[in-house]
Amino acid sequence: MDIKFTDSFLWGAAISSYQCEGGNFNADWCTWEKKEGLEEALLACDHYNLFNNDFELAKKINLNSLRISIEWSRICPDQYTFLEEEIDHYLRVIDSLIKNNLKPVVTLHHFTNPIWFADKGGWSDHKNIDYFIIYLRKITEALKDKVDTWLIFNEPLVYIYNGYIHGIWPPGEKSIKLAVKALNNIIKAYMIGYKEIKTIYKDTFVIPKISLTKNIRVFSGCDKGNFGLNSFAAFIRSNCFNFWLFNYLNKKKCLDFIGLNFYCKEYTKFKFPLGSECKNQHHKERQNGLDWFISPQGFYDVLIKLKKYKLPVIVMENGTSESDESYYEEYLIKHLKSLAQAINDGVDVVGYFWWSLLDNFEWDQGRKGRFGLIEVDYNTMKRKIRPFANTYGKICIQNRLSVK
Ligand code: BGC
Repeated sequence: MDIKFTDSFLWGAAISSYQCEGGNFNADWCTWEKKEGLEEALLACDHYNLFNNDFELAKKINLNSLRISIEWSRICPDQYTFLEEEIDHYLRVIDSLIKNNLKPVVTLHHFTNPIWFADKGGWSDHKNIDYFIIYLRKITEALKDKVDTWLIFNEPLVYIYNGYIHGIWPPGEKSIKLAVKALNNIIKAYMIGYKEIKTIYKDTFVIPKISLTKNIRVFSGCDKGNFGLNSFAAFIRSNCFNFWLFNYLNKKKCLDFIGLNFYCKEYTKFKFPLGSECKNQHHKERQNGLDWFISPQGFYDVLIKLKKYKLPVIVMENGTSESDESYYEEYLIKHLKSLAQAINDGVDVVGYFWWSLLDNFEWDQGRKGRFGLIEVDYNTMKRKIRPFANTYGKICIQNRLSVK
């Protein structure tokens, strides 16, 4: 059976500023890398200078949209400064996307904060929400004539979990109390930001579409040997991490679409208080280059669960990092089939973005993660389109897929 996608279907790829641009030395992640002795992002993919070239490649692959993020710390290196020349840089970035027929989707916060913001207590202090809103206003004003689709935050719960509970990302806290405060403030900032963006567009003819992205996994207990405690932990994780934020924001009527990031299935083991991931066990699913359990069926199941929101769904990230090239294509095709099947079964999916356009800096994993449609040689910064990207490009242009 052939599934035809809508004519306006967004076929894209996603990137984020800190992971690609390079030179983001005013971000809290930069301080963190040094403090923890981690691999440093430094020039990353030098996308700050090579963006034109990268967008031409995206066009060559046949994408019609690209998700980028704005680096707050680049625009506001200190609390009192807005660097107009950096805003102009992003205007040039957006113009280049448009010139290459790539519809821009813009994320305002993708895990990084300015150092001065972090020094003031970051997200755990409610007084700091205003700083983010001032930045949000400034960027929306500047880009409103060229952008209509916004993501205020990328994966707030991943950010909170890694930064405030697990302590492996900045600010490196391990405190449920701070985590709750920070999450609360991020949710408040989201809701204020949502209204602000709507207000800013009031004097235009455009109705902006605003959301955030949420990483959703399928969880399962990693073995049955401990009186069902692992399954219990999987249940807890699923409830804490999966749908409640969408439920809440949807009830508050401040979600215009669902921004889904889906990668894998997680096997969970019991550990106080929130369980933990278990990677070193054999399960029926294949593990990718980062040991993630690959589950196209899980992707389908999650998409079906999103039907209840009665909102359009955009898959804002889906992708893999592999040590064997052939698995990229297998992952792509299997996940696109799940997507097509879900559309056929009534889910209103209006876009799909591969993570990522380029190999890039994978946070605490450094340059180990290789998610790109385009391979990057970090010594020369040369780009090379991976073979599976051409397969993706063919599907984008055909705008249909056979699911059998
Ligand atoms: C994040 C990206 C990250 C990707 C792969 C997503 O959760 O938004 O920044 O690179 O996962 O780990």
